[in-house]
Amino acid sequence: MKKIISIIAAISITLLAILMISSNQKTTNVQAATKSPGKVLVVYYSNSGTTEDAAKKIQKKTGGDLIKLRMSPDYPSNYDKLTKVSKRQIDKNIHPEILNKINMKKYDTILLGFPTWYQRPPMFINTFFEKYNLKNKTVVPFSTSMSSPMKVNRPYLKKMVKGKKVNLQTGFRANSSKAINKYLKNHNLLK
Ligand SMILES: Cc1cc2nc3c(=O)[nH]c(=O)nc-3n(C[C@H](O)[C@H](O)[C@H](O)COP(=O)(O)O)c2cc1C
Repeated sequence: MKKIISIIAAISITLLAILMISSNQKTTNVQAATKSPGKVLVVYYSNSGTTEDAAKKIQKKTGGDLIKLRMSPDYPSNYDKLTKVSKRQIDKNIHPEILNKINMKKYDTILLGFPTWYQRPPMFINTFFEKYNLKNKTVVPFSTSMSSPMKVNRPYLKKMVKGKKVNLQTGFRANSSKAINKYLKNHNLLK
């Protein structure tokens, strides 16, 4: 009789443990799906204004801080000169200096905006990941372009964050309000 009671007790304890683990897992999954982005920074560079428009819309919708990156030397606004300067940076692997001092400790999620140049991120994006400590931060890249999809930037960005423990997201092409709204809504980034 004693043996039967101890077998029943053991089975009950096991069942209880299984129930507790599975309910705990459910809570964790719900938390992951509804995880808050925390303190948001929208940081961007724009030469002719398109990425700036997108960044301002994103800032309003997320309620984050907004910072425009300043480079030294600054990029020319003349289109022909800009194409030459930016192409030379790629060819010579130049990582242009970024002048902004940003206290990244304040932020949890960083939306990083840039124009797509030559089917890839501009070279100051390399500097961005070298200059700022983004360890354990979530970085959501967004880009504007004439037609190139966001995914052309992905392999370059992945290489830039390699070994830095950055939570790099796929990001999105931010040429329309519709695309911006869709991404922010689907990724729980609306304020
Ligand atoms: C040097 C240079 C290279 C560009 N390369 C591409 C490209 O590869 N694919 C594309 O779709 N658009 C390209 N564009 C267009 C820009 O990505 C597009 O106009 C962008 O929205 C500009 O952003 P901004 O106004 O914030 O500077 C290029 C523009 C410049 C100046």
